[in-house]
Amino acid sequence: MTSLQPVRLRDYTPPTHLVDALELTFDLGDAYTEVRSRFRVRANVPPGEDPQPLRLHGRHLELQSLHVDGAPVSGDAYLEDPEGLTLLALPAEATIEIVTVIHPQENTALDGLYRSGGLFCTQCEPEGFRRITYFPDRPDVMTTYTVTLIADPEPYPVLLANGNRVDHGERADGRHWATWHDPHPKPTYLFALVAGDLHLHEERYTTRSGRDIQLHLYVEHANAGKTAHAMRSLRKAMAWDEDTYGLEYDLDTYMIVAVDDFNMGAMENKGLNIFNTVCVLADETISTDGDFETVEAVVAHEYFHNWTGNRVTCRDWFQLSLKEGLTVFREQQFCADMGSPAVKRIQDTRLLRSIQFPEDDGPMAHPVRPESYLEISNFYTATVYDKGAEVIRMYHTLLGEDGFRRGMDLYFQRHDGQAVTCEDFLAAMADANHVDLDQFSRWYTQAGTPVVQAGGRYDASTRRYHLQLSQHTPARPGQTHALPLHLPVRLGLLTGDGQPLPLRLPGETGQAPLERVVALRDASMELVFEDIPEAPVPSLLRDFSAPAVLDYAHSEDELLTLLAHDTDPVNRWDAGQRLLLNTLLASVESGQPPELSEPLREAVHHVLSGWRTDPAFVAEVLTLPSEDYIAEQQVVADIDGIHTAREALRNRFGSSFADAWRTIHDQCDPHAPGVNGASARRLRNLALSYLGAAGPQGAELAMRQYHAATHMSDRLAALEVLIEHGGSTADRLVAAFHDQWRHEPLVINKWLRLQATATGRNALERVRALTAHPGFDIRNPNRVRALLGAFSQSNPVGFHRTDGAGYRLLADYVVELNAMNPQMAARLVLPLTRWRRLDPRRAGHMFEQLERIGNTPKLSKDLQEVITKSLA
Ligand code: ARG
Ligand code: ZN
Repeated sequence: MTSLQPVRLRDYTPPTHLVDALELTFDLGDAYTEVRSRFRVRANVPPGEDPQPLRLHGRHLELQSLHVDGAPVSGDAYLEDPEGLTLLALPAEATIEIVTVIHPQENTALDGLYRSGGLFCTQCEPEGFRRITYFPDRPDVMTTYTVTLIADPEPYPVLLANGNRVDHGERADGRHWATWHDPHPKPTYLFALVAGDLHLHEERYTTRSGRDIQLHLYVEHANAGKTAHAMRSLRKAMAWDEDTYGLEYDLDTYMIVAVDDFNMGAMENKGLNIFNTVCVLADETISTDGDFETVEAVVAHEYFHNWTGNRVTCRDWFQLSLKEGLTVFREQQFCADMGSPAVKRIQDTRLLRSIQFPEDDGPMAHPVRPESYLEISNFYTATVYDKGAEVIRMYHTLLGEDGFRRGMDLYFQRHDGQAVTCEDFLAAMADANHVDLDQFSRWYTQAGTPVVQAGGRYDASTRRYHLQLSQHTPARPGQTHALPLHLPVRLGLLTGDGQPLPLRLPGETGQAPLERVVALRDASMELVFEDIPEAPVPSLLRDFSAPAVLDYAHSEDELLTLLAHDTDPVNRWDAGQRLLLNTLLASVESGQPPELSEPLREAVHHVLSGWRTDPAFVAEVLTLPSEDYIAEQQVVADIDGIHTAREALRNRFGSSFADAWRTIHDQCDPHAPGVNGASARRLRNLALSYLGAAGPQGAELAMRQYHAATHMSDRLAALEVLIEHGGSTADRLVAAFHDQWRHEPLVINKWLRLQATATGRNALERVRALTAHPGFDIRNPNRVRALLGAFSQSNPVGFHRTDGAGYRLLADYVVELNAMNPQMAARLVLPLTRWRRLDPRRAGHMFEQLERIGNTPKLSKDLQEVITKSLA
């Protein structure tokens, strides 16, 4: 590997030039596309000073011509290198005209302008625009766009770009064209175009102030019937942002286009979102309840970006969390309001602990605002997105609902139309509330998961309870000594039989609250609560009030009290998870089957008996911690021991509570009046899964459910149980399932995933065989994620085979994708980077594959960065 220079935050300098307006013309052809660009630049220097050279980024472009102020530019007036052009002697103001030729048909990286099926489409965030034409491809250069598309009308009747269509027509040669103008200045990463033959689902929406907006959802004709849910979600998101933040949409048309080849979930291009089909299409025959939730969340997320991302954007890519953390937080608030706040918060907490904490603990650890990168695409991470959202949530927790809204209002008032930094956001929050948030800024600069240690002491003679809280963040690469964070701890105290206690601090009179948010700012602090009648059970970090690990030695009795009585649903769930985790870890360590203590058995019965009140919550509480999460609790993960223990506990759960599960499977009716169907299916299918784990009767039940199913959630849950039981019946069903759905790519993703995650001795052979199946396509990211991503991330026993064959298989595809789609390759490789957490034999095999990938000729920057960090 050659050593490349990282880009560093501290080297940021403002743009040398500003761009006033940009005109782009795309002549979209079957062999190549010609891109004409014309823009006016102004030197960004104080009057009288000499303008600096102008850097135009460009990659894989064929430069046809370059003119400044109408005259061709001679070869000594610019420098050309593989990453762009530098124009040396420009006047203070100039008009630049550039013609490039590109080959979207050959663009397998899905970055810039590319083909997906019969469509032309774009993905420009973060740095795809430079694969379209030469331009200052940086988010702090914002300009207005006028874009003309020219194409054959028959394959490409629909021609779209950002903003409003201002003109269109036909040419003498039979090709047609359309011109679009976007009045809002924007950075390159928000540019988009689409050309193709698409079905349009059209609706109208009236904003609170009475503006009439066209909502246009474009999909391939075969998917015409699957847009209703996305459209409904969009309307809900628009209304919610008006109600919650007073924010309205600002163009006359809002467009969403679905494409099947997409590296990520979706993209918030101004007025023209482009979505992975996975995040738009939904109907009951092909989608699970989880898919419906994903669509609603992602549609809302991209819509919310219009203000948090587009109207106010990022100065540079180190600020990515400025828009992503904030938008994920807004998405979380929205989903909580649309469904169950408790279940949503539990899911967020689970995600942070199972994905972000490990990332923070691994070789790719970075702060919410990274300090350097080789390839920014590697930083679209759980840390930037999800820990970033937790950071925003902490402002909300510390400042309160109204204080947070004041901060948001000031942020928009100050920065609408600007490209800004995380400090600007923090300053708006601080200034709007007249508080000092200097220490809070460490959340942006320090990597690693803080540990909050708690210890309590009850003094019966004074009736006082002393609670010690302390914090530390373990050392991370490049960060030996972390400073104390400004960390909100939401807490309550319960009596032994579960009554909430008033939290009276010394000297306080009047009614004391039952819950407090305490700001832990020093390395440690002591809180004293008065008039406490007995040694209380503390409920700490309620609602997961900070992205931290809580270290408090709760006894089993205390956890049982919290599980049964805590008023905070997240901590009720968490107490249940800790009880199960302790049971599982004890079994892994002893090698003995897991023991369900009598009190725990009773507690589970008690939870089960309340299933009618909130089925989804009951399902969350009774879902066992994942194998990965159990492994995270160990210094060296015992892959096989964990699998054995967890499977044994599933079996125990199934048999010990069989009557309750059967009752639920029988009576938990998703169609009953007043019942949330998704929530009911969730619990009912958990019941089925436990009954399946307990024995053949469960499999019979699954068979009946499979054949009666009208909803994909039910069909898939049943098939999963049947695959677990294996045998020729399962093989037959898997084949039949494929034949039934071979024309639905989204279902084929599920079919691949089911088999990739199925355990059993031949998992690897099965996955390898599937890579040759016509349903698999290495060039399609959804298929790669469904088969190879799922196998390496959700099939621990199969992937971590002791002979290293799982690692070799993954590495083979990482090497293949290196040349084809570097972004995908750099994501796929991640499971191999955690070799330090495994036993020497497995670690050695992983290390070997990392080295092998590192020695691949022409290794992409994306992979170089990940490989170098993981081998260091
Ligand atoms: N901004 C998009 C979002 O809504 C993600 C785009 C990421 N693209 C990429 N190539 N990494 O979160
Ligand atoms: Zn986003």
